[in-house]
Amino acid sequence: MTGSRELEPSQVPFFPTIFFNNQFKAKPQWPTKDKNLIGKTAIVTGSNTGLGYEAAVQLLELKLSHLIVAVRSVEKGLQAATQMRAKYPDAKIDVWALDLCSYDSIQSFAEKADKELGRLDIVILNAGRARMEHHKVESTGHEESFQVNYLSTIFLLILLLPSLKFKRIAGHPAHVTIAGAALTLDAKFIHRNAVPLFASLDAPENFDRDDSYRVTKLLAQMFLWTLVDYVSADDVIINIADPAFVRGTSLARDLKGSLVFRTLFSLFGYIAGRSPRVGASCYIDAVVNKGKESHGCFLMSWESHPFPGLLYTDDGKTATQRVWEETMAEFEFSSARQKIESMKE
Ligand SMILES: NC(=O)c1ccc[n+]([C@@H]2O[C@H](COP(=O)([O-])OP(=O)(O)OC[C@H]3O[C@@H](n4cnc5c(N)ncnc54)[C@H](OP(=O)(O)O)[C@@H]3O)[C@@H](O)[C@H]2O)c1
Repeated sequence: MTGSRELEPSQVPFFPTIFFNNQFKAKPQWPTKDKNLIGKTAIVTGSNTGLGYEAAVQLLELKLSHLIVAVRSVEKGLQAATQMRAKYPDAKIDVWALDLCSYDSIQSFAEKADKELGRLDIVILNAGRARMEHHKVESTGHEESFQVNYLSTIFLLILLLPSLKFKRIAGHPAHVTIAGAALTLDAKFIHRNAVPLFASLDAPENFDRDDSYRVTKLLAQMFLWTLVDYVSADDVIINIADPAFVRGTSLARDLKGSLVFRTLFSLFGYIAGRSPRVGASCYIDAVVNKGKESHGCFLMSWESHPFPGLLYTDDGKTATQRVWEETMAEFEFSSARQKIESMKE
């Protein structure tokens, strides 16, 4: 079982058609009444607000026993947890600090999960950023959206893999989903042949307010392409879920422009955007409804979908290999390589 890479590339070349079908035609796949998460533990990153908050609530609705609200602002996390506890008093809800702009914070978080959690069944890697201007993370030197959406999200995933493998119920794989984006199907990724690749993604002159965000999400698909060779679906099922265009979250917080432009954008969200509840249901579908068949899959419209066409070309395969190598080199200061290798044992 190797997921989307085994599918034929998408035959719908016109992105507006994909967008229209995804926003207006796809039918949500809500968990059936017999599904519950009693006894299970889940981590949701960025669950103080937006899609992460909604996803956490939907896990609690399914009677999740233990939720880790993983947030960069503990204060905001505590406020969210207070609201959740009022509605779901039987669940254990903890707030843990996680700053995806700091490798130290990610390592501390993963160590805490390893030491303190008796169980780990579900991880939803939702936290994300859509910077409109180039912004450098001082501690790593990387562009912020690239850092948060790709490098740090993948770093956390790798560090959590052994906990996921060994803290699940025997015979039941753990589940991970990563926040994806249908926009990857429209990514241009013009610097894909650059060597080294990551330095080109960090260069301020290469920042593109449309494409850079798409590329950060495309990189996760490229990494997943290779990761499934190391991780068995019997241990951890890993997929990427697109929540589609969702209105009312803070993702567009950096959007500038005139009042007219911002009003039109809000109006477009109102007409075309999914509600956060429907958007977050894509994550829940990915970790509750979907099974081993979804390992290595890009899920869009609640279904397995091919990766963007580029990944199936020679050009794309070379870039995918480079993404793997540069990612592993980036994390050489840590135990990441050893953790990935250990998944084969
Ligand atoms: N909304 C959409 O239309 C849409 C479409 C496709 C994919 N997505 C993806 O869905 C995910 C959630 O988006 P959203 O719309 O819910 O956006 P949002 O409301 O802005 O939520 C983003 C979450 O990520 C957290 N975050 C940002 N930077 C972080 C960092 N350095 N460390 C830790 N946490 C950090 C935020 O924390 P703070 O509150 O502290 O900033 C917040 O909790 C993102 O990955 C996004 O790319 C969204």
